[in-house]
Amino acid sequence: MANPVRIRPAVGDDADGVTAVRRAVYEYKVMSPAATRHLITVSAPAERFLALVAEIDGELVAWGSAALNIWTSEPGQSHTSIFVHPKHRNNGIGSALAERLHQHLGEVGAVRTRAFVHPDGLEFARNRGYDGTRQMHYSRVDPRVLPEQPPTPDGIELVSMDQLDPRRAYVADSVATLDEPSDSPLDSIDYDRWLEEIWNGPALDKALSVAAVAGDEVACFTAVETDSDRAWSGMTGTIPPYRGRGLAKLVKSVALRRCAAAGITAAYTSNDDENGPMLAVNNWLGYRRIQTEMGLLRPLVG
Ligand SMILES: CC(C)(COP(=O)(O)OP(=O)(O)OC[C@H]1O[C@@H](n2cnc3c(N)ncnc32)[C@H](O)[C@@H]1OP(=O)(O)O)[C@@H](O)C(=O)NCCC(=O)NCCS
Repeated sequence: MANPVRIRPAVGDDADGVTAVRRAVYEYKVMSPAATRHLITVSAPAERFLALVAEIDGELVAWGSAALNIWTSEPGQSHTSIFVHPKHRNNGIGSALAERLHQHLGEVGAVRTRAFVHPDGLEFARNRGYDGTRQMHYSRVDPRVLPEQPPTPDGIELVSMDQLDPRRAYVADSVATLDEPSDSPLDSIDYDRWLEEIWNGPALDKALSVAAVAGDEVACFTAVETDSDRAWSGMTGTIPPYRGRGLAKLVKSVALRRCAAAGITAAYTSNDDENGPMLAVNNWLGYRRIQTEMGLLRPLVG
């Protein structure tokens, strides 16, 4: 008989175990143990964040989390994430996690939840009421092999993110994010939350992240996160008046060169299928697609 599965709330000390399971499921989702600990232990009360882990004989084998999306003005939007180690599938663990997370979301007022689903999980998700056609592409580049760095235009200064005033970085991030394809507009990013979750969070490597500054404004930036020898693009954004001038290509060219110099051998990113400009930038840099997930939605009431 199979050993019993224990599902319990996640705690900070689960970070290493969760990171290992995430890596076994999705080698392309780069998140360090420190960033995972932060995810588990730091959230705004309004998010009503619930993180669960499943254990068998004390070994962590699955993760499930759900929270309200507090970065949109649309009420009741939420997100859900579930992953089960490949060796422990078809044992009811994903179903048990989904049931508890959906119940929690209903109780805290969510009307809809969004999940990004790997092809292996599509049938599971569709059987539990998830639907949609949105596609998210994951891709990878070796930062030691890049096209020639474009010239820096007149009037633009390239700086590390650690030289930036956070308020100016926040303005650029929140303005650019408005145009990122998503199910709900990300139009309600609170500065203090942004400071806690992004700017002061352990994921962002400000020394590797690069901004293109024009006078007092951050015209364009790229945020780099790392986990040992792998990097993740947290966000790249250009504020509208500066788009189409090659700045995203430039800041990513510089940041990826810094990554290579810091010992990174693989840099990953994700792009919505509808994000033509960002896909063009990444294709030019040499990123190659390694996976496509579906962005699915599930109603929670009605
Ligand atoms: C994506 C974004 C960062 C690009 O910034 P940018 O500084 O304008 O980028 P660049 O000028 O360096 O390059 C733009 C490329 O997109 C191409 N492009 C522009 N619009 C396009 C479209 N609708 N479809 C396809 N390609 C497009 C341009 O032709 C150019 O490529 P090329 O030089 O090979 O011709 C900017 O549009 C943005 O901030 N968007 C909102 C935030 C966002 O979605 N960020 C990415 C999250 S993953």
